[in-house]
Amino acid sequence: ADGVLVDRYGRVARDLRVSLTDKCNLRCTYCMPAEGLPWLAGPELLTDEEIVRLVRVAVERLGVTEVRFTGGEPLIRPGLVDIVTAVAALDPRPRVSLTTNGIGLDRLAPALRTAGLDRVNVSLDTLDPGRFTTLTRRPRLDAVLAGLAGAAAAGLSPVKINSVLMRGVNQDEAPALLRFALDHDYQLRIIEQMPLDAQHGWARETMVTAEEILASLRTAFDLSPDPAERGAAPAETWLVDGGPARVGVIASVTRPFCGDCDRTRLTADGQVRACLFATEESDLRAALRAGADDDELARRWRTAMWGKRAGHGIDDPTFLQPTRPMSAIGG
Ligand code: GTP
Ligand code: 5AD
Ligand code: SF4
Repeated sequence: ADGVLVDRYGRVARDLRVSLTDKCNLRCTYCMPAEGLPWLAGPELLTDEEIVRLVRVAVERLGVTEVRFTGGEPLIRPGLVDIVTAVAALDPRPRVSLTTNGIGLDRLAPALRTAGLDRVNVSLDTLDPGRFTTLTRRPRLDAVLAGLAGAAAAGLSPVKINSVLMRGVNQDEAPALLRFALDHDYQLRIIEQMPLDAQHGWARETMVTAEEILASLRTAFDLSPDPAERGAAPAETWLVDGGPARVGVIASVTRPFCGDCDRTRLTADGQVRACLFATEESDLRAALRAGADDDELARRWRTAMWGKRAGHGIDDPTFLQPTRPMSAIGG
């Protein structure tokens, strides 16, 4: 090994998030405009082989132990199953996970499981069909519910649900989402909305806070502190009605966890991002296509991570939203 991805603050990145496409088959209002975005062009995207090569460098030489595929929507990438197969065959074998909107997961889950996928996180913000269609601009709630069931049936475990709460949209749904998750043995995490939407419509004042989320859950459930070690997980978890069931809250804005961050990111066009909110990227695609060897790629990746900022700075007066929207970073 060539050493780990350590930054100047001593944090070590062992968790790699790889965006496989910036495209999506939904249009969540907190993410994309109705008309979509100017997508990356074909030649800009890493090929399947290029993705596997870069992940291999991260796993074999840089100490990455967990690889999560994201998008846009990763299930619409044609090579997904082959990419998962190749990554799960690396030595040492990384844990392999996926963050998806769930559409098509009922059909794909068995093949992904066989390919070596360990677990999935599925985005689902509402259980109301009308609200779902308003929020995602597509009438696909049933497809997402089928995807969740298919993932569980295929043995992908745990199945987690990610819900972003928005004032005046689905703010009242935390207890219903938790009831649904408990009934189906899914692990719910409720998320504070971050300033990452393409339309720059986020406002600190209207964001639903972790405090409000917890108060809302406590109208229907007893929550007690989770004795389990949190580590670098974005979610802070609580035992529900004494456990063993849990619920998580991802409070990126009001309770930042940047000091424990263990993430490095690769975009679909081959740029390393040290942080979700990074303003700089390192172009591994250019290096790779210019003939860089594994040593050189590893060196560039380490250099990119060394410059990682201490925190996201959302509350700083000088905060600037990243120019890439969420859908092109991968969350
Ligand atoms: P687990 O490994 O299952 O805990 O996954 P995860 O929660 O890290 O990943 P997921 O893709 O499910 O993301 C859930 C939420 O956490 C999304 O809103 C992400 O944008 C957010 N998130 C993931 N990584 C980071 C991070 O490094 N910083 C911040 N601020 N948010 C993150
Ligand atoms: N803030 C927080 N989470 C977001 N997601 C998408 N946009 C945002 C945002 N602005 C969530 C999705 C998905 C995960 C990758 O990130 O719901 O579950
Ligand atoms: Fe698609 Fe995810 Fe963005 Fe929704 S949040 S439009 S599911 S990429």
